[in-house]
Amino acid sequence: MYNIDLIVGARPNFMKVSSIIREIDNGAQQNKIIDYRLIHTGQHYDPSMSASFFEDLNIPTPHVNFDVGSGSQAQQTAEIMIKYEELLSKSPTNLCLVVGDVNSTMACAITAKKLNVPVAHVEAGIRSNDWTMPEEVNRVVTDSISDWFFTTSISASENLYNLGVPKNNIFFVGNTMIDTLLLKEPKFVKPSFWDNENLQLSNYFVLTLHRPSNVDSASLFKEMIFTLCDLARGLPIVYPAHPRTRKVIDMINEIPNNLLITDPLSYLEFNYLVKHAKAVITDSGGITEETTVMKVPCITLRDNTERPETVEIGTNVLAGTNPKNLNKFFDKLFEGNWKKGKIPDKWDGKTGKRIVKAVSKILQNI
Ligand code: UD1
Repeated sequence: MYNIDLIVGARPNFMKVSSIIREIDNGAQQNKIIDYRLIHTGQHYDPSMSASFFEDLNIPTPHVNFDVGSGSQAQQTAEIMIKYEELLSKSPTNLCLVVGDVNSTMACAITAKKLNVPVAHVEAGIRSNDWTMPEEVNRVVTDSISDWFFTTSISASENLYNLGVPKNNIFFVGNTMIDTLLLKEPKFVKPSFWDNENLQLSNYFVLTLHRPSNVDSASLFKEMIFTLCDLARGLPIVYPAHPRTRKVIDMINEIPNNLLITDPLSYLEFNYLVKHAKAVITDSGGITEETTVMKVPCITLRDNTERPETVEIGTNVLAGTNPKNLNKFFDKLFEGNWKKGKIPDKWDGKTGKRIVKAVSKILQNI
C-alpha cells in the first residue's frame, strides 16, 4: 500500500480534493493500492469557511489539523512549513498532493520537496502573470518544484511545456472542482433567507468580493458597491461576505437598499444562488469556472485571469476594477445579449478518477 498526503487549508481547496478522496475510497483503483492521510493546515478556521464544507462535500475528518489560523503571508506560510516538517519527520509519506494556489499549497509543497518527498500539483500551470496576487507566487513556486502536474486546460499544460517541464510529467485531466459541482448540483439548497428576501429566479445578482485590490481601500470598495447597486437597476444583490471584508463593510455607514450582505454561505446554498442568478459579479477565480459550467453570466472585477477558458469558451467577462467602466456589461445583460458559452474539454465530472489512476501508476514506478 502506498500512502499519500492530501493537503487542504482554505475554502477553495475543499471542493478540489473531495472528488479525489471519493475516487481513492471507492473507485478508480483496480486493486486498492493507495491510502491517504488528509491534512488540514487550519488556514481557514471559521466554521462557515471550513467545517460546513466537510459536511456538504462528504470529506472525512482530517487525520491531522495544524490549526495555524491567520497571520501575515510569511507567518502563515512559515507556521505551516514548521508543522508539516515535524509531521513528515515523524511519519513520512510516499507522495504529497497539493491542490490550487493558496498559502497551504505552496508551504506544504516546499516542505515535502526539501525532505525528498515527491510532489504532485492539481490545478498546475495556470498563470495570471499578476505578481501582486499572493496566489500567483504560490502557483509559480509550487510548479517550479513539483514532480507531477495535473492540469485543467490545454493552455495550462502549454504554460508548463514552455517552462521546460517534461511532457510525460504533465497530465491534462480536467477540473476536480467541476466533479464536485456536477455531483452536488441535485443537492443544492435554497438559502434560508430566500423567501424572506423575496428572491425570484433569475432576478437577482450574486456578488463575491474579497481580493485585497477590491476590499482593502474603504473608499474604492464603497464606490464599487454603490455603482454595482445602481447598475443592478433595483434588483437585489446578494453578497456573502468573506471574513476579511468585515472590517471594510463596517466602515461604510449607509448600505444601499438592494444590497443584502450575508455571512459566508455553505457550498450547497451558495451554488443554489449562483445557479439561479441573473448574473454573478466576482473577483474569485474558481467561481468563474462554476458559472461557466452552469452557463450563468459572470462579470469578473479583475484585469486578468489565470483561467482564460472561462472568458474564451465560457460565460465570463473580464470587466476590470474601475467602477466607471462597468455600464456596458450591465447593458448587455439587461438587453439579453450575453454570450451563451460552452463547457471546456474534460470538465465532465471524471477528473478525480483520471488523477487517481495516474497517481497509482506514478507510485508504482517511483
Ligand atoms: C485565501 C486564498 C485565496 C482564496 C481565498 C478564498 C491565499 C494566499 N489566499 O485568501 O486564494 O481565494 O482564501 O476564501 O491563500 N479569516 C477569518 N476566518 C477564516 C479565514 C480567514 O476570519 O476562516 C480572515 C483572517 O482575518 C485572515 C484573512 O481572513 O487574516 C485572510 O485569510 P487568508 O487565509 O490569509 O487568505 P484569504 O484572503 O482567505
